[in-house]
Amino acid sequence: MGKTVKVVVTGATGQVAYALLPRIASGGMFGPDTEVDLRLWDIPPMIDKAKGVIMELEDGAYPLLARVTASADRAETHGDIDWALLVGSVPRGPGMERGDLIRKNGPIFLEEGRAIARHGGRDVRVVVVGNPCNTNCLIAREAAGPSIPDDRWTALTRLDQNRARALLAAKAGARMRDVKRLAIWGNHSATLYPDFTNAVVGGRKAAAAVDRAWLETEFIALVQQRGAAVIAARGVSSAFSAAQAVVDHVRSLLTPTPADDWASVAVVSDGGYGVPKGLVSSFPVRVAGDGWWEVVQGVELDAFARGKVDATVAELVREREMVQDLIAGAAAR
Ligand code: LMR
Repeated sequence: MGKTVKVVVTGATGQVAYALLPRIASGGMFGPDTEVDLRLWDIPPMIDKAKGVIMELEDGAYPLLARVTASADRAETHGDIDWALLVGSVPRGPGMERGDLIRKNGPIFLEEGRAIARHGGRDVRVVVVGNPCNTNCLIAREAAGPSIPDDRWTALTRLDQNRARALLAAKAGARMRDVKRLAIWGNHSATLYPDFTNAVVGGRKAAAAVDRAWLETEFIALVQQRGAAVIAARGVSSAFSAAQAVVDHVRSLLTPTPADDWASVAVVSDGGYGVPKGLVSSFPVRVAGDGWWEVVQGVELDAFARGKVDATVAELVREREMVQDLIAGAAAR
């Protein structure tokens, strides 16, 4: 048995966490050789419910679950953590955009950033799931200050990648595993760009496998609006598909990326690809054998793709402006 990984899941009594926690406990996220010390964080009124979640985790008799606790005190749950999976936030309802939540959820991520800096482990890694996840990640990163480097902060666009992959495979009559290098760029929002121009289906460029006109119009719109479509149909936002994407996101960050593929991860921009430094934007990412990621370099974006990337990045710039008052001096307080 390898090491024990300490993981906090916030919003631990919510729908996404309910689908995510058993996956973590059963080894689906950190593998069959890693025990998990699982900390459930939620707001005080939810702690009794969290005790029920703990009972269910105990009743699963998961061999890899070394410990599970719950608290509304981040000093208890975030102590020495290796991973922070930040799910806790107000979800959007029908007719809303994720960005509409920015002023409501932003302050939660100020608190998270500060708590992670104060209590987290030396190599803590963060995954922001609560929406709008890119800008919430930016807020948490700013609030944490310089003690935690940029490369520890990520936000979830794997759900969009999974959606895009499934839609493209269905259209092409291909298997899911035949769709490669289908990267999401930019924001997890209605402006996100699933870059079909570099995607490969069964060894061929996507535009050779399906009609480019469909890719430029319907495909992009379907991926951009998939979260809203789930909400319209279910009345509530996605849960187990989001949980699956969190598992995939973390696994992709921990395992070498196959040579013929990329993973979509929203990370702190270093200014590459014309994305302003400091924005949390989705890029194609590769992980080498040592478990640390790098943005794939040299990806060619044609005029169509460039226009789409610029549009989604412009939205991230606007979101950052909307929370400027929150992040100004956040780390100092
Ligand atoms: C999703 O994409 O399903 C989630 O981000 C939830 C939402 O608000 O769409």
